[in-house]
Amino acid sequence: MSQSNVILPPAMLGMLGGGQLGRFFVIAAHEMGYKVTVLDPDKNSPAGKIADVHICAKYDDAAALKQMAETCHAVTTEFENVPASTLESLANSVPVHPSGKSVAIAQHRVSEKNFLKNAGLPVAPYAVIDTKADLPDDSSEIYPAILKVARFGYDGKGQARVANLSEAKRAFAEFSQEECVLEKMLKLDYEVSVVLARDANGHVATFPTAENSHLNGILDVSIVPARGSDAVNHQAQKLAISVAEKLEYTGVLGVEFFVCDGELLVNEIAPRPHNSGHYTLDACITNQFEQQVRVMTGLPLGSSRQHSPAVMVNLLGDIWPDNALTGEQGEPDWQIAYDNAQLKMHLYGKHEARLGRKMGHFTVLNASRDEAIKQAMQVRSELNIGN
Ligand SMILES: Nc1ncnc2c1ncn2[C@@H]1O[C@H](COP(=O)(O)OP(=O)(O)O)[C@@H](O)[C@H]1O
Ligand SMILES: [Mg+2]
Repeated sequence: MSQSNVILPPAMLGMLGGGQLGRFFVIAAHEMGYKVTVLDPDKNSPAGKIADVHICAKYDDAAALKQMAETCHAVTTEFENVPASTLESLANSVPVHPSGKSVAIAQHRVSEKNFLKNAGLPVAPYAVIDTKADLPDDSSEIYPAILKVARFGYDGKGQARVANLSEAKRAFAEFSQEECVLEKMLKLDYEVSVVLARDANGHVATFPTAENSHLNGILDVSIVPARGSDAVNHQAQKLAISVAEKLEYTGVLGVEFFVCDGELLVNEIAPRPHNSGHYTLDACITNQFEQQVRVMTGLPLGSSRQHSPAVMVNLLGDIWPDNALTGEQGEPDWQIAYDNAQLKMHLYGKHEARLGRKMGHFTVLNASRDEAIKQAMQVRSELNIGN
């Protein structure tokens, strides 16, 4: 029986941001029978191209926000740098999940770290750097450390590894003395993440803990379920739920963790579906984008059960060859990937391949996790990833 405050198809849903996360959202919403309006300033945005309506404007454009408020029954975001004020102003006329308040915390590394610490969650030792004078001197145990700009950093951008005060000063100057977090460089056993959905009634559905490896600060491979101990996998789930509850979060949330000496530390949180949750598209009863639709429309959460072990590999622009003669961009040898019958390909339809740009991913499914790893790593290497 439908409930009065539930938004049912074919209602129009609003998405702030037109990247690949938005594109998967549009696909999920369309399959469920909804229509989608995407707001993104890029006329070639992957989600904008397949949306019912693409408003090509900035995220603070008053006319664009008015159009969204008037035509959409609920609004969500895929882009954590949407101004929190945009979410708040939309929330005056239409349900918005996640709230501007939780996005504001996640989009600023200082408020994010302070929130986690004050909530009693374990984090790496850090210092807030407002001015040069805040940089700890060489006697500090924080070095070697990583200086991270507080705003707009992603995929390892806006980060510098520093061994001492003089290197930290140089990096801070290079970041135009913008507010930063200086974080102790940890020796990681490995990294994991948990993606979850939390609805307005406080119900939570977590996806299994993913084991992630990075290349140049960018996610490279996710193995799910993670190979670490059950205790670590379970503790990651508990901590992720605790983050969501303390944030009073509604929507899909990604929580990244470091595992150090067998202990978990929260690295960062993403107020949206997460790259390490892309395997859910092929390996779970409900994928992370359908959960996003379900939360914003007031539908009950779907089952997040994983029905097959999965290994996801990111496809970055680095593997798109340049033709030395014509100067035109070629394509990776897709035949290699499609020869594998257990492989699910997802290309995002981006116009131009650039170094470090996420162009697509594939997921290999197999009843045996070890076999999935073997096959995924073989295709990965044949596509020249990481070479
Ligand atoms: N304090 C740290 N110690 C060791 N490795 C780190 C640390 N901070 C970041 N890294 C590495 O860099 C990656 C990207 O950093 P992260 O803070 O998650 O930024 P981004 O927003 O770019 O994902 C991490 O997943 C991890 O591999
Ligand atoms: Mg990260």
